[in-house]
Amino acid sequence: MSAQIIGVVGAGQMGAGIAQVAMSSGYEVYLTDTALAAREKAKASIEKSLQKLSEKKLLSEAAADILKRLHFAESAAELAKAAPFIVIEAIVESVEAKKKLFAELDKNLPKDCILASNTSSISITKIAAATTRPDKVVGMHFMNPVPIMKLVELIRGLATSDETFAKTQTLAIKMGKTTAVSKDMPGFIVNRILMPMINEAVIALSEGLGTAEDIDIGMKLGTNQPMGPLALADFIGLDTCLAIMEVLHGGLGDTKYRPSPLLRQYVDAGWLGKKSGRGFYRYD
Ligand code: CAA
Repeated sequence: MSAQIIGVVGAGQMGAGIAQVAMSSGYEVYLTDTALAAREKAKASIEKSLQKLSEKKLLSEAAADILKRLHFAESAAELAKAAPFIVIEAIVESVEAKKKLFAELDKNLPKDCILASNTSSISITKIAAATTRPDKVVGMHFMNPVPIMKLVELIRGLATSDETFAKTQTLAIKMGKTTAVSKDMPGFIVNRILMPMINEAVIALSEGLGTAEDIDIGMKLGTNQPMGPLALADFIGLDTCLAIMEVLHGGLGDTKYRPSPLLRQYVDAGWLGKKSGRGFYRYD
């Protein structure tokens, strides 16, 4: 097992961002995804982002040298051959999918490898229970866009050991991030507070309180946020926003977390935000 090797599973927007920041911090990264298209898309987005950061002189070395630390794997078994000291999971926000993956990682990766989840709301304790090493399972929640956002939320499951937690926190700091520690409760800190605001903005839109533009301008200029809540929802992905609201509603049981029916309808329509070309706004 090498302290310089990190595995990232899931080559979507978050997985690619996590891989990029880890590579930029000197780690060899094995980005794992079964889909070739996802791996190719991730490589292109990492190259584009590094290029932007390089033009702004925000990289400590040449983008081409950082890219040399990016490797790909197609499966947990292939990733295991690289012997990473930690694997960070960034797949779809589904309890079943995560439990299945963690059981597979547990079966394949060396026994002392830490298994971290980038879940934005799902219980770390529940994910850890799918493995035989719950003491080595931890929440490491990055924010989107990962190369720009400074925060990583750290979440301890019921059985997470002090050693696992300390190693994960050290890694987050080495990746240039600031950590906030949350209890293992639905939505943790950020989404417990952010998602009800986004959901309320969708309810306001469905009630005709204002247009999407007015709601966003109101919140952007009135409360000094970089993006209005509807634009932010499109940026995060409306399916992800809905999945998080469902975790908050199911886990905390309070009707104040009920997902907006309009949000559900947009997801049903396949209007998932920026990634699908249409959400509350259109993206060409
Ligand atoms: N890599 C490199 N550079 C990037 C980048 C990336 N991935 N994304 C944006 N940038 C750069 C842009 O190139 C741009 O650079 P210039 O100023 O030199 O042109 C700069 O960042 C600003 O970007 P934009 O001009 O496109 O737009 P912006 O000023 O609105 O900034 C933003 C974009 C950084 C995303 C900003 O709008 C922002 O901070 N928005 C809020 C993001 C946020 O709240 N994220 C958390 C979401 S919640 C979450 O992630 C948790 C969850 O579980 C859902």
